[in-house]
Amino acid sequence: MSDDGPPALPVEAAAHPRGLFVAFEGGEGAGKSTQVRLLCEWLTAQGRAARATFEPGGTPAGAAVRAIVLDRAHTGLSPRAEALLYAADRAQHTHAVLHPALAAGEVVVTDRYVDSSLAYQGAGRTIGLDDVAAISRWATQGLRPDLTVLLDLSPETGLARARGRAVADRLESESLEFHERVRDTFRTLAAAEPGRYLVLDATRSVDELAADVRERVGALLGVRS
Ligand code: TYD
Repeated sequence: MSDDGPPALPVEAAAHPRGLFVAFEGGEGAGKSTQVRLLCEWLTAQGRAARATFEPGGTPAGAAVRAIVLDRAHTGLSPRAEALLYAADRAQHTHAVLHPALAAGEVVVTDRYVDSSLAYQGAGRTIGLDDVAAISRWATQGLRPDLTVLLDLSPETGLARARGRAVADRLESESLEFHERVRDTFRTLAAAEPGRYLVLDATRSVDELAADVRERVGALLGVRS
């Protein structure tokens, strides 16, 4: 180790010096939105400024992109066009919501982020993780979560839950094999960086999952859960 000055900060630490960035990932019906809400309620009760957000559609322009990507009428959408639309949504989300909130010191909790593009477009659509990672990096200016919580669930269970809730959208309508590739990719990404991921079995109860999330986020923030 050289002694000519302090080591460079990791990109993510330099990008948001005061806030904390938490992403929830997982397949259909994993219960992400419930856990995002419970975490933000707990953070607020702790006196922390917390912001719940989501992709696709976490900004007004993103809502228009969301309408395109989820609309089952767009059966002919190319995988590359789909990947770029999700990246455009993410670029606007990062610019208008994530960076400003993190710079203001907030805890930002997003329902889906880059890993969803790696899993659904990179693996699900089989266009490759490297290209999807590159456009996501460009779209986000390299902003990475401090913690990613993966709510892991078999596609059979998740799709049954999701289909019980609403009419299937364009992505939910994909084959079981597609959703198996999505799940495998989420798990592979998490296994490659265990320190930055919390992988939870999404068949456990909502309260048990929320307690595990609070414990990990509380530790990162230096508060008791
Ligand atoms: P949404 O209704 O938000 O689903 P969920 O409740 O499961 O999060 O729809 C988002 C859909 O978009 C979901 O099927 C996953 C997909 N998606 C991608 O394919 N790539 C992405 O980068 C993102 C963010 C989502």
